[in-house]
Amino acid sequence: MEEQEYEPLIVGFLCNWCSYAGADLAGTSRIQYPPNIRVIRVMCSGMVHPNLVINALTKGADGVLMCGCHPGDCHYLEGNLIAEKRAEAIDLMLEDFGLEPERFRLEWVSASEGDKFARVVKEMTDALKQLGPSPYKT
Ligand code: FES
Repeated sequence: MEEQEYEPLIVGFLCNWCSYAGADLAGTSRIQYPPNIRVIRVMCSGMVHPNLVINALTKGADGVLMCGCHPGDCHYLEGNLIAEKRAEAIDLMLEDFGLEPERFRLEWVSASEGDKFARVVKEMTDALKQLGPSPYKT
């Protein structure tokens, strides 16, 4: 029997107002990107608690992508600045959990940046393929 190629699973937390619309644009524009991401729509990137990220990474995800509006564009004014601070905390937590830094990524994606969303998903998928499955995968 042929061994199946490893396909990383990425959980994507996308804010409703910019990044989700950007991902939607990628889809409606038919921009090709790997089907490895499972999108969770959140109202704002600032609402994604670090525990959600760590939970995803220790319970089956190989990587987590968090996307929000560009600084200055957050619908709730400062949510993405909170997300940026939390990303620093998440980076430290990854170390504690023995996870590589490439398994988490924060990106700003606006509603008009379907191409950027597709590029980021491709880059992250490629990076995770290089890394191999999460050590928490059984
Ligand atoms: Fe998009 Fe806050 S609404 S990051």
